[in-house]
Amino acid sequence: MSSSGEAGLLHMFKGIPFTTRSSPELLNSLDTFDAREDDVLLVSYPKSGTHWLAGVITKLYNTQVTITSPIEFGDISKLEELNKLSSKRIIPTHLDYNMLPPNFKNKKCKMIYISRNPKDTAVSMFHYYRDNPNLPTIDTWTAFFDLFLKGNVVCGSWFDHFLSWEEHEDEKNILFLFYEDMKKDLPKVVKEIALFLSLNVSDNDVQDICKKSSFSAMKNDTEKENSDPSHTVCALTSNRKLIFRKGAVGDWKNHFTPKQNIRFEEIFNEKMKLSKM
Ligand code: A3P
Repeated sequence: MSSSGEAGLLHMFKGIPFTTRSSPELLNSLDTFDAREDDVLLVSYPKSGTHWLAGVITKLYNTQVTITSPIEFGDISKLEELNKLSSKRIIPTHLDYNMLPPNFKNKKCKMIYISRNPKDTAVSMFHYYRDNPNLPTIDTWTAFFDLFLKGNVVCGSWFDHFLSWEEHEDEKNILFLFYEDMKKDLPKVVKEIALFLSLNVSDNDVQDICKKSSFSAMKNDTEKENSDPSHTVCALTSNRKLIFRKGAVGDWKNHFTPKQNIRFEEIFNEKMKLSKM
């Protein structure tokens, strides 16, 4: 990571790097956030398919819902802004479980956690770092690979994030999803989400939602700016065009050297030894 002049793009909060788009005052006041019982949280480590999932979820509702910007994005006025919303709130976040406002846990709000093969997540994040002026400059894939494994990237370690949520996987109000399952059988996952959110959808609705949520449809919508280009569900950019890159499973094979793959697997096996993944 180039250091000079870019240190100001990130700051540390409770040991985790955040961009300056998340103010320390806001992060500090998250603990007092007043959740509503019908809030739905959309949780992810960056680059795991957050926008895809958000696209599916908003299409599932036929009542008025608002998908907000991420809870950790902005300054202290953010919480007031969320308090004022009268419609049902779908709130995205990249926070790990421990940093989540306790009120969401106490009120047993529904939470959907989407995860993705960390190798593909790393590659997606590498490109995002390269294209996104809100993130520090990365010179090479090799340099980013090291940062990712050490957790020295925005939102911290993928392993810590995943494990903090996986510990709560069996709680009834938390649904765990995988990007790869959405790629393999989107209709099945859409039905699973609908069931979890207690929404009635017909097979025709499911088909229609899947069609409108394909990678090409979502990318086209963004290019034609049918959707608000400044509305992202990621706290790291307000440019939706940076989101829809390749949308593939296994792109890591085009980036990882055999040696990097061995190192990644070693660290994965070590860190995830208690995981069910
Ligand atoms: P790639 O960079 O590998 O292409 P997030 O929304 O969490 O930032 O995740 C972005 C990743 O999800 C990007 O991955 C993006 O292309 C992919 N993505 C977004 N919409 C998608 C869709 N409809 N189908 C498949 N992948 C999608």
